[in-house]
Amino acid sequence: MHAALLAPSLLAGDHAHLAASAAAAATAGAPWLHLDLMDGAFVPNLTFGPETLAALRRAGCQLFFDTHLMLAEPDRYLEAFARAGANLITVHVEPPGDRHATLSRIRELGCQTGLALNPGTPAAAAVPFLEQVDLVLVMTVQPGFGGQPFRRDMLPKLRELDAWRAARGLRFRLEVDGGIDLATAAECRAAGADTFVAGTSFYRAPDQAAFAGAVARL
Ligand code: DX5
Ligand code: ZN
Repeated sequence: MHAALLAPSLLAGDHAHLAASAAAAATAGAPWLHLDLMDGAFVPNLTFGPETLAALRRAGCQLFFDTHLMLAEPDRYLEAFARAGANLITVHVEPPGDRHATLSRIRELGCQTGLALNPGTPAAAAVPFLEQVDLVLVMTVQPGFGGQPFRRDMLPKLRELDAWRAARGLRFRLEVDGGIDLATAAECRAAGADTFVAGTSFYRAPDQAAFAGAVARL
């Protein structure tokens, strides 16, 4: 079983001072930084782009960039995100296109591969890709906005993916994103998750280092 890992979501940081918000994640001891890229098409919101990742790198951020592409046409932007400093690129399974090819391209670009499932998408949709991914992201809210309540009905999906992972002897990480705090993270951990995205709960935590430590001990 993978050690529990925290990925603070910069979406909940201070957008006028993103480098400072990224630095806060590092100072708290979080190993990853989760970056939410939205295009106003796959999801009804906009965030930032590859230039933001590059600027964070230039500002000295060395965290592992866990890049979550909520894009209708992810293939158009893979190279830009890889070049900007992404370490892992997660694409959604839902948009039309050849996702096997998308994942191969991410690997060719030297990044780890992730596949994300919206709440309405069954675990079975990930099965054809399980040998090709380093991470499966189970959305525990409808993507687009931070601060939404955790969807407990996603726990069976986690258990299903965890069981398939064990049955096939695979090593992909199982990540949850949306409404994650220490209580919901513990529920997800019990269902097989090992990688925890936290936006609102991390950035609003009175003691971010204690929050990161508590996740690491899950
Ligand atoms: C939602 C994003 C999340 C978001 C989570 O579409 O994918 O990463 O930042 O925010 P919280 O943790 O506040 O639910
Ligand atoms: Zn996300």
